[in-house]
Amino acid sequence: MGVRLALADGAAGFLRLLDAETAHGVTISLLKTALAPKADLAPNTMLKTQLAGMDFANPVGLAAGFDKNAEVVDACLGLGFGFVEIGAVTPKPQSGNQRPRVFRLSHNRAIINRYGFNNDGLDLIAARLKTRAPKGGIVGANLGANKDSSDKAADYAIGYRALSPYVKFCTLNVSSPNTPGLRQLQKNDELDKILRRLGEVREEMQSQNEKPCPLFLKIAPDLRDEEKTDIAALVIAHKIDALIVSNTTLARPSNLEARYRAEAGGLSGAPLFRPSTTLLKEFALELKGQVPLIGVGGVSSARETYVKILHGASLVQLYTAMVYEGPGLVKRIITELPNFLRADGFTNIKQAVGQAL
Ligand SMILES: Cc1cc2nc3c(=O)[nH]c(=O)nc-3n(C[C@H](O)[C@H](O)[C@H](O)COP(=O)(O)O)c2cc1C
Repeated sequence: MGVRLALADGAAGFLRLLDAETAHGVTISLLKTALAPKADLAPNTMLKTQLAGMDFANPVGLAAGFDKNAEVVDACLGLGFGFVEIGAVTPKPQSGNQRPRVFRLSHNRAIINRYGFNNDGLDLIAARLKTRAPKGGIVGANLGANKDSSDKAADYAIGYRALSPYVKFCTLNVSSPNTPGLRQLQKNDELDKILRRLGEVREEMQSQNEKPCPLFLKIAPDLRDEEKTDIAALVIAHKIDALIVSNTTLARPSNLEARYRAEAGGLSGAPLFRPSTTLLKEFALELKGQVPLIGVGGVSSARETYVKILHGASLVQLYTAMVYEGPGLVKRIITELPNFLRADGFTNIKQAVGQAL
């Protein structure tokens, strides 16, 4: 491992002495400097894959919420990620909920956050993405809605149109638990309305010779069976390019650190691995390959990445584990993943997708 990467992994331990949000701010500041660690991974054809017309060097991406304001996109790609999702971005800037609003549950390797879409807003973030776009790499934007917006569908439409020229995909985030009412948008009629609206934006852009980027949908892990069936039917009907499973959970498993388990917000990290993988599998069985899946939730190793892939994920994202393991985690996963493929007789990651279903 590179010296800088090893030092950065050591620093991750030090950063955990600070409160979680301050530590995150320090991390972003470090990634902005020339001292940002770099993975320098050699390309491996076993890990190359495609989704929605894009070519990925490897299937492991940085999940939304880490680089909310698109400040350190290239440093994140430099850690070895095959793709990076920035955001959530809302049309107007907003400050989010009061601090403290993020909690590390170290014994559980988990985080509870209730940030509430704090971000610099669409104009500033679009300008940053525009400036860096010529550098390439697969960068997508997670789209949110402003807390005080009376027409949340319009917020997604505005974000999609504004960012399409500068990113490779956009994700409709209707699954954050920290904006009141947002998760209600996953209900059949509401979701149908939003997806219809976004479909119109796509058509409008095409008619004006603009290129709408691929559109993903990200869902919560806390869904009832009938909601799952409705979502599956809608993503097929509206030709959504990929479904991201899943966002953080409102569930509170009984073994969570007592000190924080009553904090409001979404739980991520190790306790989310099982429920999000079960949901991934359910959608894989329901969608039968008609819409590709991106697996997220509690991934902290090559083995867990591989389990997501075997349960139907074409791509995998992570966030929380990097807080505990440091940025060298990405390189370790990418380096070890081919061993799992070889052991099962696969020559490329695509062959493994859904093999455990
Ligand atoms: C601090 C924090 C902020 C997050 N912010 C967002 C966000 O803005 N948009 C979003 O779609 N997901 C957000 N997420 C959810 C992650 O993208 C991911 O879906 C979830 O954390 C599960 O993955 P993990 O267990 O690897 O962290 C956030 C997660 C954390 C921990």
